Amino acid sequence: MITRAESATVPSIIAASALDLIGRTPLIALDRVHPGPGRLLAKAEFMQPGGSVKDRAARAILRAARADGRLAPAAPVVEMSSGNMGAGLAVACATLGHPLVVTLSAGNSPQRARMLEALGAEVVLVKQVDGVPGQVTGADVAAAAEAARHAARQRGGFYVDQFHAPEGVAIHRDTTGPEIWAQCGGRIEAWVASVGTGATFLGVAAALRARNPHVLCAAVEPEGCRPLAGEPVAKPRHVLQGTGYGSVPPHWDPGLMDLALAVSDDEAAHWRRLLATREGLHVGYSAAANVCAAASLLASGRLPADAIAVTVLCDTGLKY
Ligand SMILES: Cc1ncc(COP(=O)(O)O)c(C=O)c1O
Repeated sequence: MITRAESATVPSIIAASALDLIGRTPLIALDRVHPGPGRLLAKAEFMQPGGSVKDRAARAILRAARADGRLAPAAPVVEMSSGNMGAGLAVACATLGHPLVVTLSAGNSPQRARMLEALGAEVVLVKQVDGVPGQVTGADVAAAAEAARHAARQRGGFYVDQFHAPEGVAIHRDTTGPEIWAQCGGRIEAWVASVGTGATFLGVAAALRARNPHVLCAAVEPEGCRPLAGEPVAKPRHVLQGTGYGSVPPHWDPGLMDLALAVSDDEAAHWRRLLATREGLHVGYSAAANVCAAASLLASGRLPADAIAVTVLCDTGLKY
């Protein structure tokens, strides 16, 4: 039975398509895994139709390309992905009527390829260069990107090129960041996020800093793979799929990062279990790393005892 309080919160609008389910995600208090000091809040990006934070960039890039004529109606779309951008693109391509080809390093979880194919995309699996299954390196990603450029040339398709597309950072600056600010009522001391293309970290950091220049912005990197911290890459293999590719991404703005926090594979696995069993949130490794880093920042004494730190639950654990 639906209670009065529950029925009052059911939105009275009908979404025109799955594209309208992207964005406006809830902010969840993680009080059971982090009782204090301070408060840890997480943006539930895994609740979007493609199951990850990348839905926002996927929709934004395709909309911009259709608007300025780079992507003609019904023309093919091609992209290299760790699976999440591919899923976001697959949702957008299904609703907008474009065939989609995704080149995916074979090291990414097979669940991702299955989801992409279920959404109607063609998946090209690219052999790993120096990674192992479940651990995808920068060289593996470069090989998948080369395969995507080749496929785009061959098929006359629109190459999304998420690492260079300006719409990625812009959509997080214009939607995710302002949503977080509004959801916190403007009370936020720190923003913590892992970095793939950097779109999420940079866009949200820019939006928050524009509203309060004192918000502390911390990037999350895998232990041993810390180019943002200025360290040589000692361990390119790690479990934080979709992030930590061992180089500084093209749009990186060092002025938006106050510090870089490292998270080990064991810590990510531990926090992933905690989130599932104490919060009921089955999410991926980068999400768990984000929560681990945000909790350690709150506990470090660097922030006021009642500080609010916000991070992002990047994708669903069903993709692993
Ligand atoms: C699981 C996961 N976490 C985090 C990210 C990082 O997002 P961004 O590319 O916005 O830095 C990605 C990107 O693909 C991802 O797949």
